[in-house]
Parts: sequence; structure tokens; C-alpha cells
Amino acid sequence: MQGGARIVRMQEADIDTVATLEGEVSPAPWSSGIFRDCLRAEYECWVVHAEKVFGYVIFSLGPGEAHLLNIAISPARQRRGFGRQLLAKVASIARVQGMQRILLEVRPSNLRARAIYERAGFEFLSLREKYYGPPNKEDALVYTLSL
Ligand SMILES: CC(C)(COP(=O)(O)OP(=O)(O)OC[C@H]1O[C@@H](n2cnc3c(N)ncnc32)[C@H](O)[C@@H]1OP(=O)(O)O)[C@@H](O)C(=O)NCCC(=O)NCCS
Repeated sequence: MQGGARIVRMQEADIDTVATLEGEVSPAPWSSGIFRDCLRAEYECWVVHAEKVFGYVIFSLGPGEAHLLNIAISPARQRRGFGRQLLAKVASIARVQGMQRILLEVRPSNLRARAIYERAGFEFLSLREKYYGPPNKEDALVYTLSL
């Protein structure tokens, strides 16, 4: 991968860095506790790192479908293909685990994320009204990728 970057499983020791990064990129950031809960619940939690962690993806594997819960790349490293590679990792694990599709929710206003999902072959499935909580109750677009 570019610049010696690698995608590896997230460890508890990564949580502070991941939560700081989350605070930089998300309008409603997850707390460290949420990331810790994801690890303890044995969700699929992966980070991309070179010398330091600069991105992450979290997803769950349910009956027949993977659910993408969070994905981010540090602003300084965006638009270099790392987000696409994290999505490819999700798809490859989901396929090996026998999933038929990946589902995710995205804010209609998040044009960057929608662009990367559409580029990766995701298609709009449905609208979930007022899915995102206060202060700005926003609908979610549900996207799906058949595997
Ligand atoms: C969404 C996110 C993970 C994408 O990561 P990234 O590493 O920048 O994405 P990539 O470089 O792999 O981009 C892949 C494709 O997505 C599209 N894309 C990425 N950034 C874009 C931008 N700023 N504007 C338009 N299209 C964009 C492009 O089609 C791009 O392909 P190209 O570079 O060949 O044109 C990153 O922007 C991010 O962390 N955003 C904040 C957190 C977030 O919104 N997460 C999603 C919540 S649902």
C-alpha cells in the first residue's frame, strides 16, 4: 500500500488516537467509550497506519449482511485512495464470511462520503427519516453493495 501504510486490527491502545481523529472529521463524534464497546463486542475494527494511525473502519457481520458503522481518514491523508482501500477490506472480509451485501447509512449532506461509496459501486436503497440525532435531525440515505 502507498507509503508503507498497512491495514491491521484496531487495538485498545489505538483508541485515543482514533477518538481524536473522529473528533476532527465527524459532526457527531463517537466517544472513546463507543470505540471501546465496538472492540469488546468483537465488531470488525480495523485501522490504517503508517508510522501512526490515520484512519479506521468499523463494521458488524450479521446474518447475511455486513453493516458499515464508521469509516474515516485523517483530513491530511484524504483523497489518496485510503478510504477506497478500507472499503475494499470490508468487502473482502464480508465476502469470506459469506455475507451477501454491505449496508450503510450516510448523511445526504456528506457529499464526499457519498462519492466514495458510489464510486465503489454502492447503490441507494432507501431513506431513513430523522436517523441522525440532535442538534440537527438529519435523514439517512441507506446504501447497499451486493457482494
Ligand atoms: C469518506 C472518507 C473516508 C473518504 O476517504 P478518502 O481516503 O478521502 O477517499 P479516497 O481517496 O479513497 O477516494 C475514493 C473516491 O471517493 C471520491 N472522493 C473522495 N474524496 C472526495 C471529495 N473530496 N470530493 C469528491 N469526491 C471524493 C472520489 O471518487 C475518489 O476517487 P478519485 O480520487 O479517483 O476521484 C473521508 O473523506 C473521510 O474520512 N470523511 C470524514 C468522515 C466521514 O464522512 N465518514 C463517512 C461517514 S458515512
